[in-house]
Amino acid sequence: MRYRRVKGATEKLEKLSGYITTNPQDFKGRWKEVFGNDNDIYLEMGCGKGQFITQMAKKHPERNFIGVEGQERVLLRAAQLASTEGITNVTFVCEFLREPSLAFDKGEVAGLFLNFSDPWPKARHAKRRLTHRRYLGEYRKILVDSGNLQFKTDNDDLFDFSVEEFTETGMKIVELTYDLHNTLFNSREVTTEYEDKFRSWGKTIKYAKVEY
Ligand SMILES: C[S@@+](CC[C@H](N)C(=O)[O-])C[C@H]1O[C@@H](n2cnc3c(N)ncnc32)[C@H](O)[C@@H]1O
Repeated sequence: MRYRRVKGATEKLEKLSGYITTNPQDFKGRWKEVFGNDNDIYLEMGCGKGQFITQMAKKHPERNFIGVEGQERVLLRAAQLASTEGITNVTFVCEFLREPSLAFDKGEVAGLFLNFSDPWPKARHAKRRLTHRRYLGEYRKILVDSGNLQFKTDNDDLFDFSVEEFTETGMKIVELTYDLHNTLFNSREVTTEYEDKFRSWGKTIKYAKVEY
């Protein structure tokens, strides 16, 4: 197991093992087996406590969802939520996934969500941003050809950086707004924990949908 050990959380997570996929690299090319069907698979990198992914899974029973979250105690909350809601089309990976292409094959992921990714404000940490071109190259290796990436943030600097990365790597921006909740894009319908928090503080949410 690759869980980051936090007292008590590991044991609790083990009780929710039906919702956890350990050693995701072992499932490269055969994620459909995890779900037991051929439905399209959507991935959220940094799913936090799982509000977004569990709501999406409920809204789209015809899709499968994988939530990746590196913090064990945070992932525990996501798995507990999915379990309480009785959701069957979601699984979670407890890892800081730095090379998604080690865990997923080309075309295995139909769509990708990055919600309120850590901004890593220092320039020397830019490579850690989940919208850095290194990650964009990784996502290209796992998405279906028509697949897209949807990105939401409250952070102006991260948003500007990301739009620059999308553009400079030749990605096509198909939706973009600096105020998601005053724009008629579907992505405002299902919110994340951070989104609700920042909105309650009066912050506007930036959003982009991009394709390769
Ligand atoms: C700021 S939180 C946002 C949580 C959630 N998406 C939301 O909008 O409420 C970012 C989360 O991403 C996780 N994270 C960052 N990089 C990651 C990676 N490479 N793999 C998995 N989780 C990651 C962090 O542990 C953190 O919980």
